[in-house]
Amino acid sequence: MKRIFSGVKPTGHLTLGNYLGAMRRWAEVDQHRSDALFSVVDLHALTVEHDPARVRRLSRQAATLLLASGLDPDRCTLFVQSHVDEHARLSYLLECTATDGEMRRMIQYKEKSAQARESGQSVRLSLLTYPALMAADILAYRTEEVPVGEDQTQHVELTRDLAVRFNQRYGHTFTVPRVTHPPVAARVMDLQDPASKMGKSNAVGAGIVYLLDDADVVRKKVMRAVTDSGHEVAYDREERPGVTNLLEILAACTGRDPKELAGAYASYGTLKKDVADAVVEVLRPVRERHAELAADPAYLDEVLRKGADRARGMARPTVDAAYRAIGLLPA
Ligand code: AMP
Ligand code: TRP
Repeated sequence: MKRIFSGVKPTGHLTLGNYLGAMRRWAEVDQHRSDALFSVVDLHALTVEHDPARVRRLSRQAATLLLASGLDPDRCTLFVQSHVDEHARLSYLLECTATDGEMRRMIQYKEKSAQARESGQSVRLSLLTYPALMAADILAYRTEEVPVGEDQTQHVELTRDLAVRFNQRYGHTFTVPRVTHPPVAARVMDLQDPASKMGKSNAVGAGIVYLLDDADVVRKKVMRAVTDSGHEVAYDREERPGVTNLLEILAACTGRDPKELAGAYASYGTLKKDVADAVVEVLRPVRERHAELAADPAYLDEVLRKGADRARGMARPTVDAAYRAIGLLPA
């Protein structure tokens, strides 16, 4: 069976973007047709300023939401990245494979480091080396497919380059993975600023639908979404980014085609109302299941313990092989 790996960072509350761009497909499709691993990648949350207690809380919440959105621990491996040492072990070898120029070219690094500097903060070295750790997450499991939102494409491309380079220099060790995206909503935009991604660590929450928002909060956020000048409901990312984002969200929630949906609406108001209803319906079962799971923390602990045991067993042989291939003496 095909090996799949993907992850989510506990840097904020999970959003509709995470759900439509990644998590829903992991639960509905990926875990059924492949040997899939999903990880709360907590080490990645340390690349920016963070509060330790909040990271712990968000890690549990993210794992609970992954179960609530339908990941089944009998069908996939769900675990926390820092519970499996192999990620950090392999990351170092990939830092020895990559160049600093390659890391500096990453869009996410450029954006986040510029933001930090603007607000007078220093940039952690780990923000620069982050893609080496992400590549380690993927390559440690001989992953074939990485299902993610569009924003992660460049990181997966770099992972491929590192795998090929390592294999050429030191002998075949890694599988070269490929990226996959959902057919719609691979990039859900902020409802207040349709030029930027709906991101969980954005400062202002008015344009972000969180998975745990109450139904009336979801409705308010959708009804207040920024739309474009003009009145006609048209699917056009360049000219009508706000409306197009709403059409994509509606399409993803209802399984319809966004261009066809555009033709079905005469006004922005009716479109927004249907989007609000659709999002509330999609999130309802996730919230209900989250509440049940949150009442039983011992169950989550057990799932994560078993998941880490299984993941460790899978990663260990590949990481050991990489250590030998690169010239390190077996212990
Ligand atoms: P992150 O929140 O950066 O840890 O992302 C976890 C997963 O959700 C990754 O596969 C991202 O590509 C995906 N994702 C995050 N934000 C969005 C968004 N606004 N639209 C689509 N996918 C997203
Ligand atoms: N960098 C990803 C993000 O910001 C999260 C991530 C870390 C990831 N390691 C991964 C995704 C490995 C897929 C595979 O969304």
